[in-house]
Amino acid sequence: MSPELSRRTALRALAGLPVLMSAGAFAGTREDFAGALARDPRLLGFATARAETLSASLTTLGGRLPPGLAGTLWRNGPAEHERFGHRYRHWFDGDGMVQVFAFADGSATHRARILDTPKRRRETRAGKRVMPAFGTPGAGSLTGPDDMNAANTSMLAHAGRLMALWEGGSALEVDPETLAAGKFVVWRRDAAGLPFSAHPKVEPDGTLWNIGFVTRPRPSLVLYRIDRSGRLVKVNLVDAGPLGIVHDFVVTARHLVLLLPPFVLEPERHATFLDSHLWRPDLGTRVLTVDKNTLEPVRRHELPPGFHFHHGNGWEEADGTIRLDLCQSPDPSFVTADLRNVMSGAMRFGSAHPRYRRAVLRPDGTAAIEDAASGVAEFPRIDPRRTGRRHRAVFALAGDEGGDGWPLRRAARIDPERGETDGWAYPPHQVPEEHVFVPRGEAEGDGWLIGPFLDTRRRAAGLNVFEASRLSEGPLWRGVLPYPVPLGLHGIFTPA
Ligand SMILES: [Fe+2]
Repeated sequence: MSPELSRRTALRALAGLPVLMSAGAFAGTREDFAGALARDPRLLGFATARAETLSASLTTLGGRLPPGLAGTLWRNGPAEHERFGHRYRHWFDGDGMVQVFAFADGSATHRARILDTPKRRRETRAGKRVMPAFGTPGAGSLTGPDDMNAANTSMLAHAGRLMALWEGGSALEVDPETLAAGKFVVWRRDAAGLPFSAHPKVEPDGTLWNIGFVTRPRPSLVLYRIDRSGRLVKVNLVDAGPLGIVHDFVVTARHLVLLLPPFVLEPERHATFLDSHLWRPDLGTRVLTVDKNTLEPVRRHELPPGFHFHHGNGWEEADGTIRLDLCQSPDPSFVTADLRNVMSGAMRFGSAHPRYRRAVLRPDGTAAIEDAASGVAEFPRIDPRRTGRRHRAVFALAGDEGGDGWPLRRAARIDPERGETDGWAYPPHQVPEEHVFVPRGEAEGDGWLIGPFLDTRRRAAGLNVFEASRLSEGPLWRGVLPYPVPLGLHGIFTPA
């Protein structure tokens, strides 16, 4: 059997194998949460969506929408935190809700819809929640990861298709008009059902790179190259040793770079996918540099142990030195503890939170990492035109350690070579969500920053639009909806 054929056979076999079998009792914490929410309005963002579909115009609270801002912010996030009387145990579990903020002619409208995935339809037919989720056990059997695909993490618009993305399964097509869930995307027949992660990178020429993470028969990475027309050019499977959650990566001029946190799957641990992970700081953070042409690893580095979800960006110098940014915390306890506590109604964010850090990978095999900004930082976004190139403007949510509330309190602009250079603090009753940069002029960072938030005093979702180069002056425009929406994860902007 040729190496290529054997790899394809392996891919097909993996696609059909269970990612995880688990069984166990559900947590019946819906009443606990309702009681806690009545006492503490800060929990509003973790309440279940109040309807399957939402639609309204935004009412202006102040300022004026820039007339040149025309297009759509597509967002996604776990929103159906309770079904059939049961409440999920982790923030990342609930079924996804696609949200659309449309900007035209100086006004903004909102639509949202719960994605009726095959997983959700199966539970509707059963009249109960049966499928395992990221951090909640379920008794339902799995024929592959898409049987538990909640399509709840981000969105992708590529080659004329709109897709909802999840960490561990296929991209799900979404009808941009009705927001109805379509079919799982099959990039190529032999790659059907393989995980396609939620942070693909699209280069200025339209080439799309992505990763995936398969668990059986042994944890492995899937690497994708897709062209601007949506054709899968190459897919490769890489055995990288002990492996767990790998949520994001960076692309440089010649390489893909993956940082593997030492939070790895242990086959004998099976309560949930999250619980199957073990913190193994002895492994360090292993760094895999992959050749873009072959999709094979060409270099390995090691950094001290740490846990991260998100990268800002990465780039490569002429001598091969790679510099990349990430939001890294000392360990994964904010995922394993804080984001569980909040689902049961405990507003405790006492874990060490991620900081904005810069790693340097040298061609001689040495590597280093240091803080690039002070304080807490998450949900980093860059000017998308700088993908894979040296960048000086990162937009993130920032905060400070300490306190028991949601730690991300500011919209911040970070220059990874200078630290935080600008920012605007949200009032205590507003919780900012990922802010997305919308380019306007030619220069890096010349544009608007669009920031959804949840107002726990008004019990309503809202949206701010900032001049991206002058955050500290506050929003150019502030708008509010007549209803709350659960706190979401990631979004993309498509210009009109
Ligand atoms: Fe993410």
